[in-house]
Amino acid sequence: MRYGYFDDEHREYVITQPDTPLPWINYLGSEDYFGLISNTAGGYTFFKDARLRRLTRYRYNNAPLDMGGRYIYLRDDDRTDSDNSLFWSPSWMPVRRPLDSYECRHGMGYTVIKSKLAGIESQTRYFVPLGENLEIWEITLTNHRDQSANLSVFSAIEFCLWDALDDANNFQRNYSIGEVEIIDNVIYHKSEYRERRDHFAYFACSEKLAGYDTDREAFLGPYRGWNSPQAVEAGRLSGSIAHGWQPIGAQHIKVRLKVGEQKKIIFLLGYHENPKDAKFDPPGSQTINKKTAKPVIARYLNTDQVEEAFIELSKYWDHILDKFTVHTPDIHTDRMLNIWNAYQVMITFNLSRSASYFESGVGRGMGFRDSNQDLLGFVHLLPERARERILDLAATQLPTGGAYHQYQPLTKRGNNDVGSNFNDDPLWLVLSAAAYLKETGDWSILKEPVPYDNQPGSEEPLYRHLQRSIRYTTERLGPHGLPLIGRADWNDCLNLNCFSEAPGQSFQTTTNKEGKVAESVFIAGLFVLAAKEMAGLASNLGEKGDMEAALIAAEEMEQAIWKAGWDGDWFRRAYDDFGHVLGSQENVEGRIFIEPQGICIMAGLGIEDGRARKALDSVARHLATPHGIVLHQPAFTKYYVHLGEISSYPPGYKENAGVFCHTNPWIMIAEAMIGHGDRAHDYYLRINPSAREQISEVHRCEPYVSAQMIAGKDAAGFGEAKNSWLTGTAAWNYVAISQWILGIRPTYDGLRVAPVIPSAWSGFEAIRNYRGVRYIIQVQRKGPGGTVSLKVDGKPVTGNVIPLPSAGTKEVHVNVRLA
Ligand code: BGC
Ligand code: NOJ
Repeated sequence: MRYGYFDDEHREYVITQPDTPLPWINYLGSEDYFGLISNTAGGYTFFKDARLRRLTRYRYNNAPLDMGGRYIYLRDDDRTDSDNSLFWSPSWMPVRRPLDSYECRHGMGYTVIKSKLAGIESQTRYFVPLGENLEIWEITLTNHRDQSANLSVFSAIEFCLWDALDDANNFQRNYSIGEVEIIDNVIYHKSEYRERRDHFAYFACSEKLAGYDTDREAFLGPYRGWNSPQAVEAGRLSGSIAHGWQPIGAQHIKVRLKVGEQKKIIFLLGYHENPKDAKFDPPGSQTINKKTAKPVIARYLNTDQVEEAFIELSKYWDHILDKFTVHTPDIHTDRMLNIWNAYQVMITFNLSRSASYFESGVGRGMGFRDSNQDLLGFVHLLPERARERILDLAATQLPTGGAYHQYQPLTKRGNNDVGSNFNDDPLWLVLSAAAYLKETGDWSILKEPVPYDNQPGSEEPLYRHLQRSIRYTTERLGPHGLPLIGRADWNDCLNLNCFSEAPGQSFQTTTNKEGKVAESVFIAGLFVLAAKEMAGLASNLGEKGDMEAALIAAEEMEQAIWKAGWDGDWFRRAYDDFGHVLGSQENVEGRIFIEPQGICIMAGLGIEDGRARKALDSVARHLATPHGIVLHQPAFTKYYVHLGEISSYPPGYKENAGVFCHTNPWIMIAEAMIGHGDRAHDYYLRINPSAREQISEVHRCEPYVSAQMIAGKDAAGFGEAKNSWLTGTAAWNYVAISQWILGIRPTYDGLRVAPVIPSAWSGFEAIRNYRGVRYIIQVQRKGPGGTVSLKVDGKPVTGNVIPLPSAGTKEVHVNVRLA
């Protein structure tokens, strides 16, 4: 069953019924100001940091679903009898009055919600103009009745601005700090501005207000909800001024529409900062200095400016999506690669795992391993921003080479509450830096001075940071010569040093064991991959000694893996604190895991001698399901204190044998590496959101973006997705399909083209912008596909790397023959 359809031409997903199984959301904003918006106008907004600079409030994890948003109410003022007042939400929620028609279009950085009731059509376009810290809601009303209509339009938001965590644990304070100013038709929210904040929010409207409210209870009426505000019902706002409690912004506009008449109204919600010494106007007063805010507000209350800003936004997305486009025989591949997968990669780049409908924005900032992996799919989209991110991440590395597991986007400082000792973390930095270099050839990044733990004076070139990352592993080996796992490796829930028996302890930060025994085969594989990258990088720099050292370290680790990490039919997963193996025939539960199969083969292990193939056949036999490949089998049926959180989940969910989508592309890549195009693409389709659209009633999450997890075969809800949007699946899927299945992969010396496509495909076309050159690539299959030959601008070249063209070249034509 579907709840909408893809409109690929407009790069939109069109939702045609408001009561989707879960709120289906989109993101607004691409730089500093971000918003989440659901298909029924729920969501919230923040500047840089969803915890520290949240502008509006939202109620997570509550009933009814999705409460708090960008609400507009329409009221038919011709029906004045207050018992029978007709008001509705043109976005269906929160009033939920059935609409005559409804459509929500989620597009690239904008959402349009259109509906009709009682002859009144409304269309609201929500977006954030580039370069601004504000969002626009532009509503267009049309009267389709055969008589004129008297309408009231109400807008409503609930302000935050305090630390969003305080909403849960320190609201006794919030109840007394709310302050607003209303001047010239604009509501300014300035809680805490009198003291340490030098920023405020504003809510403005293009029309003259018939009234406003800034106190929530005055607007809603006692004991009422957003579904039936007393003020909307009565058709009158009371001009309330918030003093503490819950400040809101609600505006009232009266509109008279003749037959067929149309009217646009603009609402602006924005964030503004003042210099510390110019906060007040007049100086010495307690009123906000609005001098620099006013021109911005005036500018975007103009419909022409709004239209222009919207066109700029679509051009921005044209520019980004134009970096790589494909035309293949498969619609799901095309749609995801050309539009939605790239879009999701951008969103994960911007927000890491901080703010989604499954992540509160309060607990987790930017993840070290997460953001480094997100970069792998992002780097070609906006390389300058990738560069900055790599340097920011490296600055949270510790002198030991270890890294803070997360950092706060506003301050860019490592998060002490979570700390470090996730022993895989530092290695991901090597992978992201190598990806950046292969994409851009910008070797200067390795010379950039970067501090450790953000401490001024501790700067070293990025190159040294990468070397410390490598050393961090080699200095922490366990009894089998494999890397010690620390708190966890990629699998945050495999907590072999935790041994937690007290409820409520965080599995991630509780460690009751010294950690000198438990080892990770996954980190070993990741290490081989990273050390080989390090060698490539050193060799390009002419650092021969470093290159050799890295290759020797990789080789030694490979030996350790073959000795203690290979189980005969697949790679093992780990050794626990007792030195017992996990992920082996010897185990009753957790006999085979996906992660080491993916990472070890990606690192090149077993490709030559058939052991990779053996491991992948084991994956196919034991782990693959129609809904994707599960993390391990058999699932853990009880809690094992020595394994940690992984066994805390009921079988089939999350890390306990769910389809943890992030890992599936590793297997796709591994299959491609051994030449199995059919299997690789089949796995790709099993978790491809568009390919799953037709089972939306099972999948339940958005069909246009990946979710972190799909419940595994042991779960009651097999096939049901959870935790959509902010997942490493986005970047890794992108890498798997574009670089390994389609095979278009940057190297230090140029673009490699080595497709491993399904046997049913006769070929495909791709256009890839790479280092300022546009590559137009035509791939034709003439045989099974085992060999690749290239003609570049008509001339045959040896190998499968397109040599970098001479300076000034704008376009290169590549013909690829698979024989
Ligand atoms: C989740 C993991 C997540 C971790 C981060 C766990 O509860 O299952 O997926 O990475 O928390 O804190
Ligand atoms: C989600 C985390 O963000 C990611 O870092 C981790 O690898 C996976 N969960 C698996 O535990």
